[in-house]
Amino acid sequence: MTFDIHLIDSNSIYYEQVLMIRQDVLRTPLGLTLSQEDIEDDGNQQIVIALENEKVVGCLFIKIVSKELVKYRQMAIADNYQHQGIGKSIIHVAENFCILNQYKKIELHARKTAIDFYQKQNFQQIGEVFYEVGIPHLKMVKTLNKAKNP
Ligand SMILES: CC(C)(COP(=O)(O)OP(=O)(O)OC[C@H]1O[C@@H](n2cnc3c(N)ncnc32)[C@H](O)[C@@H]1OP(=O)(O)O)[C@@H](O)C(=O)NCCC(=O)NCCS
Repeated sequence: MTFDIHLIDSNSIYYEQVLMIRQDVLRTPLGLTLSQEDIEDDGNQQIVIALENEKVVGCLFIKIVSKELVKYRQMAIADNYQHQGIGKSIIHVAENFCILNQYKKIELHARKTAIDFYQKQNFQQIGEVFYEVGIPHLKMVKTLNKAKNP
């Protein structure tokens, strides 16, 4: 399988497919529907997507919180495409975006089931378990020090 990683925003032709992945991967299994509140800030965020033949198979939102801090949100890989390296590639491209734009720290709320994935990408857990969308999460952070792959 070959896929490409792209950085887009919510004006992209791929945005509707991104919403479908978020619904299918992150909401439907919990019996939830993506709400207006879930998407109302999307226009202010960067989106990293994985594309296979024009089909969006993965996404990650990057929310700029301050000059130094970004928050990753809504990481989702389509069911049949998980565990094939796509998530890792998306994180790599997102991190290069952060480094190029001189952000110093990334934070995210990891579902408990995804903690080991983020640990492998060198994120560290902080704080106690809390609940979002009805399931346990942990805050995770990564500090960016130096440029990679110059
Ligand atoms: C979690 C998720 C984003 C990972 O993406 P992915 O494309 O499946 O992961 P990759 O194939 O890039 O895996 C990279 C590494 O992490 C490991 N990994 C992937 N998912 C994992 C998980 N849930 N738990 C533990 N390890 C995991 C892989 O085995 C791989 O290890 P390796 O580098 O030693 O071979 C994806 O599986 C997914 O969308 N899951 C459902 C939704 C979800 O939980 N999203 C995160 C919300 S916070």
